[in-house]
Order: sequence, then C-alpha cells, then structure tokens
Amino acid sequence: MDVIRIEGGHPVTGEVSVEGAKNSALKLMAATILAPGVSTLTNVPNISDVHVMGKVLKRLGASVEVLGPHSMNIDTSDVDKWETPYELVAKMRASTAVLGPLVARFGHAVVAMPGGCQIGARKIDMHILGLEALGVKFDIDHGYIHASAPDGIKGAMVTLDFASVGATENLMMASVHAEGVTTIDNAAREPEIVDLANLLNEMGAKVSGAGTPVIEVEGVPGDLHPVAHEVVGDRIEAGTFLAIGALTGAPVRVNGFEPRHLGLVLKKFEQMGCTVERGVRTCQVSRSGPIRPVDIQTLPFPGFPTDMQAQTMCVLAMAAGESIVTENVFENRFMFASELDRMGADITIEGHHALVHGVSSLSGAPVKAPDLRGGASLVMAGLVAEGFTTVSNVYHIDRGYEGYVDKLVSLGAHIERHSVPDDEEDQD
Ligand code: UD1
Repeated sequence: MDVIRIEGGHPVTGEVSVEGAKNSALKLMAATILAPGVSTLTNVPNISDVHVMGKVLKRLGASVEVLGPHSMNIDTSDVDKWETPYELVAKMRASTAVLGPLVARFGHAVVAMPGGCQIGARKIDMHILGLEALGVKFDIDHGYIHASAPDGIKGAMVTLDFASVGATENLMMASVHAEGVTTIDNAAREPEIVDLANLLNEMGAKVSGAGTPVIEVEGVPGDLHPVAHEVVGDRIEAGTFLAIGALTGAPVRVNGFEPRHLGLVLKKFEQMGCTVERGVRTCQVSRSGPIRPVDIQTLPFPGFPTDMQAQTMCVLAMAAGESIVTENVFENRFMFASELDRMGADITIEGHHALVHGVSSLSGAPVKAPDLRGGASLVMAGLVAEGFTTVSNVYHIDRGYEGYVDKLVSLGAHIERHSVPDDEEDQD
C-alpha cells in the first residue's frame, strides 16, 4: 500500500492546471448509455472513480476505449445487460447514476442498494420517489433495486425534498424520452448538473433550466445520438489548490476551471484575509496577514460545497481565533478533524458543528486519510506542519485527484509517495 510523506515548512507556490471534474465525468459516462453508438469524452480525469465507472459500463455490455490520458470513446451500441452489482456500487456510490439512463433506454434496471460509506448513509429514496412519479415501478429485494417501466415513462412534476445532485441527475436522464414534460422542482444547481444537461441536449434531448431550481425535460422520441463532449473543469480540485494558497500564503494560481463555480469559497477566502485574483478560467489566491477566522456552513450549490469543507477547515485550523464549521449535507464528514488534532489542531466536534480554535503551528505526525477530501486536507496540513507527516490510506485520495503529489512537487512541496508493507500502513 502507498503512503504520502511530506516534509513541512517548504515554500509552496506557483501554477497548476486542474483536470475535468470527477463529479461530472462519472455522470456523463453513465449518460452515454442513452445514445447508442460511440461517444467521445475529453478532459476526463485519470482517477480511480473513473476506472470504476468504466467497469460498470463494461458490465452492462458497453466498450470503453482509452484514447489518451484524458479522453475515451464509449461505445454503448451493444449494451444488453441492466445490472450493476454490489461490488461496484459499494466501491463508488455514483454507480447508481446508470439507473436513470437504463430505465430510459430499456425500461429496466437492476442496481445494488448503496450501503453506508465513510461519509454517511447516502440514501437514494429521493431517486426512487421521483422515478415512481414518472411511472417507474420498483421492487427491492436481496439488496437490489429492480426498476421497470412497463407502461413507459410519463412526464410529471417532481418536487425534491432536498436539492439532491444524484436524484436530479437520475431524473433528468430517466425523463429524456418520457411522454410529455417532466418538471424537476427544487432541482440541484451544481455546475455538474449544467454539464450533464449540456451533454443531453447535444445528444438531442430537450432539457431547459439546468442551473436553476426548476428543470424541464421535454421527452423526445427515438434514441439520442452519440456526441463528443469536453468535461467541465474540476472546481473542487481547483478549490483544494487555492486553499493551499490560503494556508501557506504564497501565491497559488490554478488554471482550467471557472472561478464563478467557486463563488462562496473564494468569498470566504477573502474574508479570511486572502487576496483572490479571478480571471477567465484561472484564479490566484495569496495572503500576507494572519488567517482571520470565519464561519462556514455547507449547503447545495451555490452554497458552500461539502466537498470543500475539510480543506477549508484545515486553513481555519491555523486562524487567529475561533471558527464554526457546520456540515449540513453529509453526516460523518468530520472524521479527518480528529486526525488533524493529532497534528496539534484544536477542533471540537458537536453533532454537525465543528468548533475550530486556531493554533499557531502544527506538528507532523502519521495520520490516516479517512475519505477523499479529508485525505487531501491532511496532505495540506503536512505542507505547513513542523517535521514529517505520513498520510496512509491514500487510495481515498486517488479516487478524486489525478497526480496530487506530482502537482504539489511542481509547486515546490517536499513530498513523495512510496509503498510500504500492508501491516506497516494499516495498524488497526
Ligand atoms: C453530493 C454533493 C455534490 C458532490 C457529491 C460528491 C450536495 C448537495 N451534493 O452529491 O455536490 O459533488 O456529493 O461528493 O452537496 N439524500 C437522501 N436521499 C436521496 C438522495 C440524497 O437522503 O435520495 C441525502 C444524502 O444522504 C445527503 C444529501 O441528501 O445527505 C445530499 O445528497 P446528494 O446531493 O444526492 O449527494 P450526491 O449526489 O452524492
């Protein structure tokens, strides 16, 4: 197993480019099921979650041809199976994104029920209730969801209890051929939703309102057609590197994403005392004074992203004062805070609130990545901690960051990744 070892205290500054968004690429890959033939996706991040989605599609009968480090052809002409097994859903919750497209194209889908995961329960009841409103029937047994649409899919008004990203995506994809119009009310507004709507429209679907709380899908007859599409830049990978600029103070410039996709995050960095320079598909963060404490609470877009909570808490751990971080989207997303406390941070968790009492220094320690964003944040902490930090369970980081260590090396960090025997890495 691999670990990441960081020697803290070295200047980290310069310029990096981000890849395409993980949270978009996975859903776009699933959407290719709707368009029999060969679709080409470019700006696809080379990360393990994308490899898992490739396996999901292959299980269904698609073929996935990697064209280069960031592009792939997906041929969905011969998709002839409708089942996604638990072993793949358990590895990656986003596998459930095939539910909508399978039901739309074939009228059938069998998807394993997601169980718990590191950051919470991640239920899919809203996906099911929404699809039922469109005429999809469900049987749930032996841990699997069997979906069928014996009378076809009928357009309807669906009001979501919560602006769920996954439910909005499944409903958009399921309704592309529905009879009549489907309205998704209280829809998620994330940039990844807009990217998916753009792909569907390029394929011949009629989706309007993506990026607003009301999305309308007018059903179109016949199959959608395959397209070539570039994945939107990863605002969370960008936010992670910009948070490093906020943490160390030396300028970090990030290219390849839209700064407006990080609106509230950048505003919070400014409130912390950072200088934020926004450009076209580029942004730079630096800081000269102390880190000022701020309160943040995670909410659906355009609120503060849950995927930036850990990285921001890492910056606030070194603020001159106390901050309160409230996590409203996922339970169990504060696990990295106890690892950060082992490095000298002073964070107290009470329910879904974290009281972050800023400290003036951190000290390097062996720590475990508890999940994807928490893992990336522990590496960040290692950059400013005194001495050496070793982060284990780095497979979590591999799920969502391509070349994280290499990019940090290019910014001047003293960091390396190496293998250790399994028993040395995981001692519980
Ligand atoms: C979430 C994030 C998304 C991020 C992605 C990957 C939000 C709102 N969503 O999307 O920005 O890109 O993780 O980390 O920040 N829920 C239910 N029932 C459902 C569906 C969801 O109770 O049927 C709950 C979840 O358990 C969770 C919340 O709603 O507490 C948000 O879920 P959702 O947006 O669907 O999660 P993801 O699609 O994974």
